[in-house]
Amino acid sequence: MQSSEIRQKFLTFFEARGHTIVSSSSLIPDDPSVLLTTAGMQQFKKYFTGELDPVKDFGSKNTVSIQKSFRTSDIDEVGDESHLTFFEMLGNFSFGGYWKKEAIQYAYDFITKEMGLKIDYVTIFEGESNVPADEESEKIWRALDPNIVIKRFGRADNFWGPTGNEGPCGPTTEIYVNGIEIWNIVFNQYYQKTDKTLEPLKTPGIDTGMGLERLAMVAQNLPTIFETDIFSSLVALLPQEFGMRTKRIVADHARAIVFLISDGVRPSNKEAGYILRRLVRRVIALGRLEGGMLRFPAVLSAVVRLYKPFYPALNEENILSVFEEERGKFEKTLTVGIKELARVDTIDAKAAFKLFESYGLPYEIIKEVGGVRAATLTRESFDEEFKRHQEISRAGNTGKFGGHGIYLKTGEVTVKDESELTKVTRLHTATHLMHAALREVLGPEVKQNGSDITVERTRFDFMFPRKLTDEEIKKVEALVNEAVKNDLPVTCVEMPKREAEKTGALFFFRERYPEKVKVYYMGKTMEDAFSKEFCGGPHVTHTGEVGEFKIVKQESVGANMRRIRAVIN
Ligand code: ALA
Repeated sequence: MQSSEIRQKFLTFFEARGHTIVSSSSLIPDDPSVLLTTAGMQQFKKYFTGELDPVKDFGSKNTVSIQKSFRTSDIDEVGDESHLTFFEMLGNFSFGGYWKKEAIQYAYDFITKEMGLKIDYVTIFEGESNVPADEESEKIWRALDPNIVIKRFGRADNFWGPTGNEGPCGPTTEIYVNGIEIWNIVFNQYYQKTDKTLEPLKTPGIDTGMGLERLAMVAQNLPTIFETDIFSSLVALLPQEFGMRTKRIVADHARAIVFLISDGVRPSNKEAGYILRRLVRRVIALGRLEGGMLRFPAVLSAVVRLYKPFYPALNEENILSVFEEERGKFEKTLTVGIKELARVDTIDAKAAFKLFESYGLPYEIIKEVGGVRAATLTRESFDEEFKRHQEISRAGNTGKFGGHGIYLKTGEVTVKDESELTKVTRLHTATHLMHAALREVLGPEVKQNGSDITVERTRFDFMFPRKLTDEEIKKVEALVNEAVKNDLPVTCVEMPKREAEKTGALFFFRERYPEKVKVYYMGKTMEDAFSKEFCGGPHVTHTGEVGEFKIVKQESVGANMRRIRAVIN
């Protein structure tokens, strides 16, 4: 079954069951707290919460869509059998129209009857303190198929959402075929608030998501998504000599680049622009490694041809010109970076990461060009170094990066040179000190709501109901400068999240943290540390390196929210 047939079948199946077909929304979401669209439900958030009326807008409480989606969390997995950055998500939704029984029945019928596939097993939510196990779904599955294998899992596997800071969420049931998860059916029953507490939604809703590429892979009974009709024509354009991994990365990135550019993203050092830049640069570097045999613009054109029937707005000329402009810029840095690489005697993971960070040199180039000098460098050691420098939030495929904005997600940042990185790192440590000082002066009601650090300044948003007095500002500055003067050691420890929470370390409540987190503390011991926060770094080794700290501006950015800008000298 060709993918175009799958698309049509899916839409028709749900249309025949009272769903209105809704076009995909842009990859750049309306929701400013989210970098890119990661799921079909994002454009419908306000229908789940009751803020908008689906009947008025769609003529029905139920909708169906094929949504362009992008998951940065999977960038590093691309190259294996089944991970992608850009993909299309088939989804049916209901905003108070139907509930578990119909949702499961539809999914079961679509997979087993329409697609003729055999379900290996399904999963349901096992329950936790304030959310009960999903016995209801279990019963519905049993009624449909008494022999079906049902597995129970916890929050990490069978609970969805929210996307962004807050939003609809709830337990899920998932369908596995040929050993992979293909369909996620979410029962949106709750609204998760920014402080992570759950409130029941007035009208529960259904949100489902099934990757078109994965469904094609199981429907076409192929071992990888890259062999499906969706990818085979793209892969066929690549020189045969290319390694498998390279081919997959190029094919994935070509689609991602086309759709990001088409939705208005432009290469930059920030947010979605940085993601695009990183994809383009990786492809160019890979092309150079492969001896200049990659005709990448031809692959981009092929993507446009393939998708034009479904996305008529794709503009080949525009896409190619944005790509070429970025290529021009990067080839210059690449040349400088390769020169720098030539100067390094031993290229271990640390040195390699520095080259990546400062010049955007990807691992592949460093390994290849480094030759014997990079003999000990492995992808694992590079990845480890990369992880060490990342903000904790990499696991979160939903929120913006980290508590401190993407600038500090150094694994993903190209700073112009070493001095920029040093400055930003000092400002990052200063931000932690300021956070601690604010709480010391104003009380624990100060809650970080986001921050952004550039080479010039740190900008810190926090919940607090009023303007700070001049005296309070002075006190905060004095506390930070005292901590700087005391030259406190900065220590990073990695520990299970649960334990880390018990240490009293501050965390950014918008974030979903992985099971293992890093805690940075500034002080002699963790117990009496001046500052203690969940964080991925990087930080200076001693607070003395921060230098003189000064608050330059405070303003209000909404009810109960203050913004402070501070600089260091
Ligand atoms: N929103 C759910 C997902 O993306 C369906 O997996």
